Amino acid sequence: MGSSARSLELRDASVRFGGIAALSEVSLTARPGRVLGVIGPNGAGKTTLFNVACGFVRPDAGSIHWGGQELRGLRPHQLARLGIARTLQGLGLFDRLTVLENVLVGADPQARTGFLAGLLALPRAGRDEARLRSRALETLDQLGIAGQADRHPGALPYAVRKKVALARALVAEPELVMLDEPASGLSDHELSELGTLLRDLASRMSVMLVEHHMDLVMSVCDDITVLDFGRVIASGTPDEVRDDPAVLAAYLGEAVT
Ligand SMILES: Nc1ncnc2c1ncn2[C@@H]1O[C@H](COP(=O)(O)OP(=O)(O)OP(=O)(O)O)[C@@H](O)[C@H]1O
Ligand SMILES: [Mg+2]
Repeated sequence: MGSSARSLELRDASVRFGGIAALSEVSLTARPGRVLGVIGPNGAGKTTLFNVACGFVRPDAGSIHWGGQELRGLRPHQLARLGIARTLQGLGLFDRLTVLENVLVGADPQARTGFLAGLLALPRAGRDEARLRSRALETLDQLGIAGQADRHPGALPYAVRKKVALARALVAEPELVMLDEPASGLSDHELSELGTLLRDLASRMSVMLVEHHMDLVMSVCDDITVLDFGRVIASGTPDEVRDDPAVLAAYLGEAVT
């Protein structure tokens, strides 16, 4: 991660869906080397914020800049070329592809229509393909699931499928990774593994994390932005945010521990 590493900046981004203000004048910055948590109750606008931040949803007002370049109306493969990767709130895996093939889709986002289709139909040992395969296997290995490379995701436990989705985001070695509820459905042990992994990722890239698991958020994030009804109601370090009365109120008295 050189000094040229890029930051992602949202300035006063607003999005309406019909009568709903899904985001209202939201500003935040995701910086290299840091984990930025985005929290808030259900429907607060967290996923919408990710969709706007990565250019999939165009804001009605405001701007998004990535290393000084404005992001607008991007398609997934363009995002990958800019060094940005994200996971979806659901798994978003292709059940008819193997684990390895799912990860290869992340290595080459045009793979499904391009080389992967070719690879599946006529196995050729092209140098690029071999390189991508070995990188995909390496990524699976780093997550401890290389042994599942040839299985189909539908046959695997949920926690393993979550790792496949993560591997697909990480395989292209992004500068920024946006993770939408990576901890959902994980056991306590898997949560603590994920926490360690997220800190490790932050040493190489910017991490944006949408999560409901407060213990995880408070222990891994450097910065936290709290949304409620599409507005930023607090932002700061975990300690600052934890004690903020507006945050406690937004969670309707749920203990933010
Ligand atoms: N495509 C859409 N069309 C209409 N309304 C939408 C759309 N996407 C989101 N919304 C609405 O925008 C608001 C914010 O939704 P969003 O999914 O961003 O919340 P969230 O914080 O991610 O919630 P959760 O914690 O449940 O995932 C909600 O009121 C939601 O119903
Ligand atoms: Mg969401």
